[in-house]
Amino acid sequence: MKRLFTGLQSSGQLHIGNYFGALKPFADMYAGYESFLMVADYHSLTSLKDAAQVRTNTIEVVKAYIAAGVDPAKAIIFKQSDVPAHTELAWVLECQVTVPFLMQAHAYKDKVAKGLEANAGLFNYPMLMAADILLYDADVVPVGADQRQHVEYAREAAAKFNLAYGETLKEPQELIAEEVAVVPGTDGQKMSKSYKNTIPLFATPEETTAAVMSIVTDSSGERPENVYQIHKLFRQDIDGLYAENKGKYKVLKEALAADINTYLAPMREKFNSLTDQDVQKILSDGAAKAAPIASAKLVGVRQKVGVTL
Ligand code: AMP
Ligand code: TRP
Repeated sequence: MKRLFTGLQSSGQLHIGNYFGALKPFADMYAGYESFLMVADYHSLTSLKDAAQVRTNTIEVVKAYIAAGVDPAKAIIFKQSDVPAHTELAWVLECQVTVPFLMQAHAYKDKVAKGLEANAGLFNYPMLMAADILLYDADVVPVGADQRQHVEYAREAAAKFNLAYGETLKEPQELIAEEVAVVPGTDGQKMSKSYKNTIPLFATPEETTAAVMSIVTDSSGERPENVYQIHKLFRQDIDGLYAENKGKYKVLKEALAADINTYLAPMREKFNSLTDQDVQKILSDGAAKAAPIASAKLVGVRQKVGVTL
């Protein structure tokens, strides 16, 4: 079985864009691989300074993946900070690449352009991510298109290391699900927490309905496109409904809210049934499985670079 590794950095309340763009694609494919699902809690420190928030996010994202259908018995689910080999290998990799190389990272440039603090962690972020991947000899790394360059960076770091010290690290391949649509938000732009245009995944039916009712509709077309595009994700057979209710935006929004609530009900129930203790157990079991694999890889690296005497 090929090995799959992916990481997630959760930065707050998950929305249906996260579900269709990340959770569902992972839940649909992970069982075909030996899969590792890592919560990138150390990565989140590059932007989050609130400890309670870091904890909550970690717990919620694990609950979310399990609610979305991931069986913890069939994947190794763990958090980055539980396996110290990640930060250790990151250092070694940082010594392989140059500052100008890291300066070209789009994610870094975008975040700095948006006014985020350019802390050294943010700058080195791609090498911690490279370490995540390379410790496990991952074959495939499913990521969103915005993370493609980071996987290229992991490949580059592996190649540089191998060139300097001999074949040690496996060059990974990104897996970008091209058919995954960008889910539009309530204002028609890409759904994103930072645009405040989300439909939350684990909200009450009432909150969901309120978010759906706030979808912006234009009065020009026959079909409220923003409503329709979201509706299609939850139900395929809606063309008749939209044909029968031309111009009746309220009726269509109510139908969408009902369909979302029906679709998400079992997931929400599962999410709410999981306790924080359940998550801690899953993460500690996962770390116990991930750590020996990572340590074994690191032993080889340490020997190659000469820190093992
Ligand atoms: P973020 O929290 O924005 O970093 O997103 C986490 C994951 O959800 C990434 O894999 C994104 O590609 C995915 N995602 C976020 N927003 C959307 C969206 N509007 N449509 C599709 N996928 C999304
Ligand atoms: N940087 C990724 C993101 O923001 C999360 C991540 C961390 C990751 N380590 C990884 C993804 C390793 C894939 C593999 O989405």
